[in-house]
Amino acid sequence: MNKKTKIGLFGFGVVGQGLYNILSQTDHFNAEVLKICVKNRHKSRPLPSERFTYDFKEILDDPEINLVVEVISDAREAYHIVTHALRHGKNVVTANKKMVAQNLKELIALQEEFGVSLTYEASSCGSIPIIRTLEEYFDNEPLHSIAGIFNGSSNFILSKIYNENLPYEAALKQAQVLGFAEADPELDVSGMDALNKLCIITAHGFGLAIPPHHIFNSGINNLHALDMAYAKAKGSKIKLLAMAHKVNSEQLIALVIPVMVHPDEDLYTVENEFNAVLVDAMFAGKQLFKGKGAGGFPTGAAILSDVSANFYEYRYTYKKRNNLKHTGNRLKYNPDFDIQVYIRYPQHMNLTAFLPVKDIIETGSDHHQQYVVGKVNLRNLLEQRNTLKQEKVFMMATHTSL
Ligand code: HSE
Repeated sequence: MNKKTKIGLFGFGVVGQGLYNILSQTDHFNAEVLKICVKNRHKSRPLPSERFTYDFKEILDDPEINLVVEVISDAREAYHIVTHALRHGKNVVTANKKMVAQNLKELIALQEEFGVSLTYEASSCGSIPIIRTLEEYFDNEPLHSIAGIFNGSSNFILSKIYNENLPYEAALKQAQVLGFAEADPELDVSGMDALNKLCIITAHGFGLAIPPHHIFNSGINNLHALDMAYAKAKGSKIKLLAMAHKVNSEQLIALVIPVMVHPDEDLYTVENEFNAVLVDAMFAGKQLFKGKGAGGFPTGAAILSDVSANFYEYRYTYKKRNNLKHTGNRLKYNPDFDIQVYIRYPQHMNLTAFLPVKDIIETGSDHHQQYVVGKVNLRNLLEQRNTLKQEKVFMMATHTSL
């Protein structure tokens, strides 16, 4: 094939530069970045100024550019760029998980309507080829669950606190300096980033495109030394996990929550910016995928793979989603499910007045804080998430198996 991939690149931060450097080291590959669109004219750039444009139309209206690669962090701007490009017949590769998760149904429809391709391997779990694996390898095999560590920054912070006793703020700073964290790191530590990835992965693994705000997420932003001490005393590490679990043939539950992970579990040894995805399939059984989840090169590598796939005219076919639509399968997302959690909350708060806790097995108090271990309903958690956030409540599941 003589075809050359001529890329219009949006964004030249950690990921954009990672991709650019990767492409310059893979000269056997017939792809070239023609233009780079960035926002800030005054920022110093590692390339000559004529490589850059500040007008997104210079890329979108250039007939020579046959692939748009979008790696900016602003989800709203990314949405405009990506939908404009798709509507104008250009294939797109994006890394923007928030934009994809929030608009997945529309993005699928646009690909069908305009006969174009949107791929986003880099959006979920960095260098782990999980979306293509779910799309192509597990396209017909029913899955029981997908769970794992989907946010490198949170995992990095938890590793630094657990292994090196580093204070939370110092660990977060390191994650930012190393280029793992989002421009707004609250997205990482609140579990929102993992939630967006979970929505994308769930669409490909189970065929359900669930809007992120329908799924409960809690993060590590309210983590206290007391919580770490509690987990350590039980011989566990705390890991921020994203989980989608088929409870029965008609009910799928999904959530993002810190979890007490025990030493005999695969996820226990996944440290720093590494991500891991555990797929439990009906016939293949359990598989663990592990790789770097954040950083310019790991994310750039996933984009390179999408750019290469685009060269061979690859596109997602959303087989699980189509199968769900066209067969009598009644699988639905339904958060009506009890999970066992540890909840630590301020002394002044009457927790059970608004959040019923059943089957309580442990309670305690210390330093103006109290905790309870018992079962809560995921639907109640979703309804009360604003109060939990306001009161800076920390919560973790006591087991990875739900
Ligand atoms: N901030 C993200 C993370 C980057 O830490 O996982 C990769 O999506």
